[in-house]
Amino acid sequence: MAAYRPLSTRWNLYLALLTILSCLVVPGVMVKHENFKTCSQSGFCKRSRAYADSVTSQGSAAASPYRLQSETIKFVDGQLQGTIVKSIDANEEVRLPLTVSFLESGVVRVLVDEEKRIKGDIELRHESKARKERYNEVSKWVLVGGLERSSSAAVNADAEAGITKISYGPGGSFEAVIRHSPFEVHFQRDGETHVQLNDQGFLNMEHWRAKREQHAEGENESQVQTNEDEDTWWEESFGGNTDSKPKGPESVGLDISFPGYSHVFGIPEHADSMSLKETRGGDGQHTEPYRLYNSDVFEYELNSPMTLYGSIPFMQAHRKGSTVGVLWLNAAETWVDIVKNKPSVNPLALGVKGKTNTRTHWFSEGGQLDVFVFLGPTPQSISKSYGELTGFTQLPQNFAIAYHQCRWNYVTDEDVRDVDHKFDMYQIPYDVIWLDIEYTDQKKYFTFDPLTFPDPEGMQKQLDESDRKLVVIIDPHIKNEANYQVVDEMKDKQLAVKNKNGDIYEGWCWPGSSHWVDCFNPDAITWWTNLFKYDKFKGTLANSFVWNDMNEPSVFNGPETTMPKDNLHHGDWEHRDVHNLNGMTLINATYNALLERKKGEIRRPFVLTRSYYAGSQRQGAMWTGDNQASWDHLAASFPMVLNNGIAGFPFAGADVGGFFGNPSKELLTRWYQAGVFYPFLRAHAHIDTRRREPYLAGEPYMGIITEALRLRYQLLPAWYTAFHQASIDGSPIVRPQYYIHPTDEQGFAIDDQLYVGSTGLLAKPVVTEGATSIDIYIADDEKYYDYFDYTIYEGAGKTHTVDAPLEKIPLLMQGGHIIPRKDRYRRSSGLMKWDPYTLIVVLDKKGEAEGTLYVDDGETFDYQNGAYIHRQFTFANSALSSGDLGTKGSKTAQYLKTMAAVRVEKIIVVGAPEEWKDKTSVLVLEEGAQSGVKAGLEWHGKEGNKGSYAVVRNPSVLIGKPWKIDFS
Ligand code: NOJ
Repeated sequence: MAAYRPLSTRWNLYLALLTILSCLVVPGVMVKHENFKTCSQSGFCKRSRAYADSVTSQGSAAASPYRLQSETIKFVDGQLQGTIVKSIDANEEVRLPLTVSFLESGVVRVLVDEEKRIKGDIELRHESKARKERYNEVSKWVLVGGLERSSSAAVNADAEAGITKISYGPGGSFEAVIRHSPFEVHFQRDGETHVQLNDQGFLNMEHWRAKREQHAEGENESQVQTNEDEDTWWEESFGGNTDSKPKGPESVGLDISFPGYSHVFGIPEHADSMSLKETRGGDGQHTEPYRLYNSDVFEYELNSPMTLYGSIPFMQAHRKGSTVGVLWLNAAETWVDIVKNKPSVNPLALGVKGKTNTRTHWFSEGGQLDVFVFLGPTPQSISKSYGELTGFTQLPQNFAIAYHQCRWNYVTDEDVRDVDHKFDMYQIPYDVIWLDIEYTDQKKYFTFDPLTFPDPEGMQKQLDESDRKLVVIIDPHIKNEANYQVVDEMKDKQLAVKNKNGDIYEGWCWPGSSHWVDCFNPDAITWWTNLFKYDKFKGTLANSFVWNDMNEPSVFNGPETTMPKDNLHHGDWEHRDVHNLNGMTLINATYNALLERKKGEIRRPFVLTRSYYAGSQRQGAMWTGDNQASWDHLAASFPMVLNNGIAGFPFAGADVGGFFGNPSKELLTRWYQAGVFYPFLRAHAHIDTRRREPYLAGEPYMGIITEALRLRYQLLPAWYTAFHQASIDGSPIVRPQYYIHPTDEQGFAIDDQLYVGSTGLLAKPVVTEGATSIDIYIADDEKYYDYFDYTIYEGAGKTHTVDAPLEKIPLLMQGGHIIPRKDRYRRSSGLMKWDPYTLIVVLDKKGEAEGTLYVDDGETFDYQNGAYIHRQFTFANSALSSGDLGTKGSKTAQYLKTMAAVRVEKIIVVGAPEEWKDKTSVLVLEEGAQSGVKAGLEWHGKEGNKGSYAVVRNPSVLIGKPWKIDFS
């Protein structure tokens, strides 16, 4: 961490010198492994793996001591309740209440708690004030719907003794087969097992027990010892910090198997391949489990299961023609082991078809066992039901999906004005400029440095002239300094996180000594909301938005660079229980604050977060943190962004150019060409790097970067439509191969090319130095056309070599799609609002195509009252038509009026048939018109391998109206 904290200027110089010198000697920078725990250094991880190994070595899951008491089972209104007992020995049993909820969506929730802790019937050590229950509020932060219980779920009467079967799901095609002893659940779809819980017998809930401080009279050492590894039950030390663990051991673990599935995806955030690797060794596999413990990992490494800044414990398993998923709703430190092997012959596992089993083992340090099982069968259906539970991606403002220019730091308001001016001078589009921590008055958030930013308002007014925005950073650590009103208020109102003794917690971050706002506290949210009001956060205007960084939280002198686990949050929950939610509570509060900056000014907030959890997609965008200006980091960003999309948080991107280090001009250029395919597109750079705004790159680089950015702007209508789709059904914005071609096994693990929404645009970013061509994999037998010159690529199940000299972005269009664009260059997306559209109709083999377009004001929530245009374009029977996709609401008519003059200025039909050769016009029919009018058509024949195309200029049709253009 220390290397990127600015100290004094002299120190900066010294450090910069040191960095330069070390760069000359050391080939690359490396994560400090010693700062983060490996599994064997994390008590419960070590215990959980040992438990799994001991069960496995006994050869059968039958040894599992967990039994569902048949006589306790009740099934009422789509919910089964009962008690699982864990047998400790002949005399002792632990009671674990079980609730299995069958939801209307076809998802099942399995929840297990511990009776003694529910009743608070336990003793805490060290006079701790912590809550006694297992943490039971994750769902309060994460779940926003989808919990209606199924009315059709029913117990099947014909089950054998010791087994309960419940049919549910669409047409009763799903079944949960619950074996009572040992407790085990198999989830079946159409008679086939897809997901198994505790099939391997790794279910383990560490029950509460009192610490035996000393030997009872007459007991010797060996009698006190159990055969469990108690080493880390009561205390755990790492990196000079001792965790007091007042509640003792309380971890929860379970194996979740996917019989017949060879790929699992998701559980971000890891810098690794999209298809997750095995974690118990083997050629090219990991030896550590994937870890989920939100952390500020300085100079993170690639191809690693190490934890990073955010975590979403949601996984999709995929095999030919079937996708299933699980959500492990637990906010404590979590690890996931993955092993793949040949199918076994469990008698309960019906009709398993695939060749490989993927077996996963999940364990968390505390909390309830709370698992959701999704039976698919498609990735789309899983994204949708996951989104119904955790919320869909926020529909962002238009500007938020355009280009963001950031660095640490733009140093004065003059500097900002100058950068803004230069972008215009060089005719490079951008929408947002960002201020990192140095804009503040000595790291006191909600202030501007009066010397360097004397006129923040003037600066924002200049940006506003081109409809541009400002984003300022606000971190959760509040400087501990006398006479700083924000910290005084936070202390007075007791809104900060507390240490284990219940006193205000103090640690180190950018400002030095700091306290942390506790956004688990509703009063803290109210207070935080007020801080953003214009009269409080002086100097900000309506075109300013917020970046929440360091919200893991990052604590420079804390264990693993974060807070001690025995710190206390609102409600006396230990930090251990809520750690992975922490970042999300901050952005919840900031989102809320941006909604309430001024009465009557209701615009969609924009918040960027570094730390996140399931549900954070409702509030804003994420980025992959502090990457490096290297080719392999560029390459790694794609699996990371794709996996985030699979896990329901698709508004994702990586620092374009790389955060640490200075990219070569070629790397910078390629990064822009690749970055225009991140849903969140922002360039950013470390304070010690050289300036690298695109106009500084010199030719030919500047021109090429400009073209890449203009491509993003040209396609903004398609991107916005993809964001809209994500906001209503959870679809990823950029989609991996398996998502689009779920039966093409060769493509399942491909994570270096992507489709943009449902547009059929297939991009393969160049991520290697000196490339002049690239191989793109095509799964299907459709024609694919080069986006720029219509070169045809055809042939299913193989790769095709596409020219990719530096100035070329490898981008294909799959036949069968209609892509909406705006072709006029403007300085920012806001200035494109009233521009006419171009439609690219890419015909498929049958001579057909379809596509959609979603448009709204890009700013307010009026779309929720119907202020939008949603069109379906169809090309069939030689005619292109535009139909309404069901726009209606109180504000529809008013909105359509504002859009009344926005038209389609050009239609390009790619793959235009030979019969059009002599055609010079098409017939345009507007809805309701008696007769059509003619528009000119130019036909261009096939040239070599370049497809034919036809252009209709100025067809005089409106974007908000139904119409038809006859090409016959
Ligand atoms: C860490 C963030 O990851 C980085 O993007 C930012 O520039 C620094 N903090 C300084 O705020």
